Amino acid sequence: MLQLKKAGSQALENLRSEGNFPPVWQSMEELETYANDSVSRFLDERFKVSKELGGNSLLPELIDRLLRTSDKEYMDSGTLSEAKKLELVQALDRQNHKMQLYPRYVTLLLSLLEEVATREKRNVSVLELASGSGGLALALAEEAQRKNLPVSVTGSDIVPKFIEEGNRQAAEKKLPVKFQLINAFSLPQFPEGSFDLMVISQSLHHFTPGQLAIMIAQSAQHTTTAFVGIDGYRSILLAGGVPLMASIQGIPSFALDGLTSARKFYSELELDIIAEIATGKREHTVACSWPLSILTVRFDGTTHA
Ligand SMILES: C[S@@+](CC[C@H](N)C(=O)[O-])C[C@H]1O[C@@H](n2cnc3c(N)ncnc32)[C@H](O)[C@@H]1O
Repeated sequence: MLQLKKAGSQALENLRSEGNFPPVWQSMEELETYANDSVSRFLDERFKVSKELGGNSLLPELIDRLLRTSDKEYMDSGTLSEAKKLELVQALDRQNHKMQLYPRYVTLLLSLLEEVATREKRNVSVLELASGSGGLALALAEEAQRKNLPVSVTGSDIVPKFIEEGNRQAAEKKLPVKFQLINAFSLPQFPEGSFDLMVISQSLHHFTPGQLAIMIAQSAQHTTTAFVGIDGYRSILLAGGVPLMASIQGIPSFALDGLTSARKFYSELELDIIAEIATGKREHTVACSWPLSILTVRFDGTTHA
């Protein structure tokens, strides 16, 4: 209901026909500004189109506008201690295990990694951004090891305690995973082609359109094959379901973060717009694998996901 594909497609077409989409950028600062402005112009235009279409389009548009928020998740608060942040990402990790999300992400990513390993006949490397508890990085390395696939994984986050905890777990499990302190939209100067795959899960909504666009553009510089962004599917069902599921653990701030997150999930068309501005191309896919949205941007000329 909150994808608003009909009004959204018309709105995007209107922006294209006005000749100011996609904007061409020269620097990361420009990219950030243009991506933020474009998504905001798109949403304004979609509102106009929804009003013209009326009824079936206007009601979801109004609900979407009511739900939207730019509030930060509690876990991103600058005043929260790292120990409290760790409690929250560990709660998320438990939820991911309970919902069997890691095996789904791992299956999706392994098919890409197998493709690279077969093509390149060498060790394949993955950088995970905003990896939180490190659950996905560890699960991916574990499954690759089980399949004898030569994969090394670097997890990263902006919270030092997560890096410490991730490295402790990797050493304990003897897995080829290291965790590094990295701001997801200001990557260090890695040598070109340092990674084959860059991935970010359940975190796209923590970033503005401009920050996401920078992430994708930086990924294009550092990654041989693809950027994969996985997040919740923007929908009414998840706006209620995510906080409800999160509340089971009895941690009020975690349940509140669930609600804030679901209010911020990007629609498929917004992800589409951000990827197109970042790459200047339309060689990406945005797919729904309920309850997830999966953005795949290929850098190796392959157009399918
Ligand atoms: C919802 S959690 C997701 C964690 C993990 N990917 C998962 O699925 O469990 C969002 C993560 O984004 C991280 N984060 C927020 N801002 C960041 C930034 N600028 N750079 C890197 N990580 C950031 C937070 O510290 C947190 O670990």
